[in-house]
Amino acid sequence: MASNGPLPLAPGAVIGILGGGQLGRMAAQAAAQMGYRSHVYCPTAHEPASQVTDLCTVAAYDDWAALSVFADHVDVVTFEFENVPAATAAHLAERVAVHPSPQVLAICQNRLREKGFCRSVGVPTTQYAPVRDRESLQAALANFPLPAVLKTTELGYDGKGQTTLMPGADPAEAWAAIAGDKGELEAILEAFVDFRLEISVIVARDATGHIESFVPVENRHKNHILDKTLAPADIPDAVAAQAKAIATTIAEKIDLTGMLGIEMFVTRDDQVLVNEMAPRPHNSGHWTMDACLVSQFEQFIRAVAGLPLGAPKRHSNAVMNNLVGADANHWLELLAEPGAKLHLYGKNQARPGRKMGHVNRLLPLDVKPTSLD
Ligand SMILES: Nc1ncnc2c1ncn2[C@@H]1O[C@H](COP(=O)(O)OP(=O)(O)OP(=O)(O)O)[C@@H](O)[C@H]1O
Ligand SMILES: [Mg+2]
Repeated sequence: MASNGPLPLAPGAVIGILGGGQLGRMAAQAAAQMGYRSHVYCPTAHEPASQVTDLCTVAAYDDWAALSVFADHVDVVTFEFENVPAATAAHLAERVAVHPSPQVLAICQNRLREKGFCRSVGVPTTQYAPVRDRESLQAALANFPLPAVLKTTELGYDGKGQTTLMPGADPAEAWAAIAGDKGELEAILEAFVDFRLEISVIVARDATGHIESFVPVENRHKNHILDKTLAPADIPDAVAAQAKAIATTIAEKIDLTGMLGIEMFVTRDDQVLVNEMAPRPHNSGHWTMDACLVSQFEQFIRAVAGLPLGAPKRHSNAVMNNLVGADANHWLELLAEPGAKLHLYGKNQARPGRKMGHVNRLLPLDVKPTSLD
């Protein structure tokens, strides 16, 4: 049962974080609260995560010399960004404990490996087919339900690198939408799920194999970007139990040490299908910062530092709203709003579509988050 997890790191130890974004920032803040130091490794300076620690390496993900020095100066390495090249993770893992493991990272980086893994452990996903060029797309469509979603297998986020095919769609146009003028690209064709709602489960597994997950939450998107999370999701207990059981199965079978954010669809007949997973804290877990004694970021640090996990219990229900682009200009009003808790990420340019911060609004446990709709 036990994986090769780290020994408990004592306060004062250094946690290496690959990636400089807001997830790294909030993880470093949680680590600091627990007496750890964080060393952020990312390709550019003054990023959200590097602003909150004085240990930072600014170097490329394929700068092997810089990675070796980084490995020598940290006690464990983790990721806030899953698109770190596999070779980077492997290089570090030869020198220092890396959690989650490079194997977990490799599965979560690629939509085909991700869905293949889920199926292999009995976790349902939507129907899918691998495609690699216009011809294979055309061939797959001959025998595939429409609408369908065509996605690149790697490097997609916030809906980038995907396009929907309605009945009668032109495969050449769809291919060009994700591949541009590239003739070949690893891609996946997915049957469109007519979901009732989208949910996610944040699950952590510690070095001894113990697993805890936060309550399933509902996620609503705007322009393909997460707009709000309602905690908990308004779903029957049996569906919530099913979602938790799926998260537990995945965490165990993938041999996780660390955290996964698992996105799922709930179909109109209450089936739960896994959409994708992220090997790190997740945007849909930000509500835990104010509605739980142990936030997802503390839980994440506990898991990678070899500590026992905390109870993922919530003391309040919550609604989390992302502040995207110009939304963050309302910071002064949000600070004045009773019951609202503002979190900003230290990004100075509010470009459209850029996640600048989030706001959590708490509700008593007997008040449904949908009451704020
Ligand atoms: N097969 C599908 N059926 C129906 N809707 C889908 C499907 N795949 C994706 N979507 C919709 O598009 C959104 C984004 O897709 P997905 O989560 O796969 O990609 P992403 O770009 O990696 O997103 P993220 O911002 O979560 O990283 C989903 O949350 C969902 O609303
Ligand atoms: Mg997603």
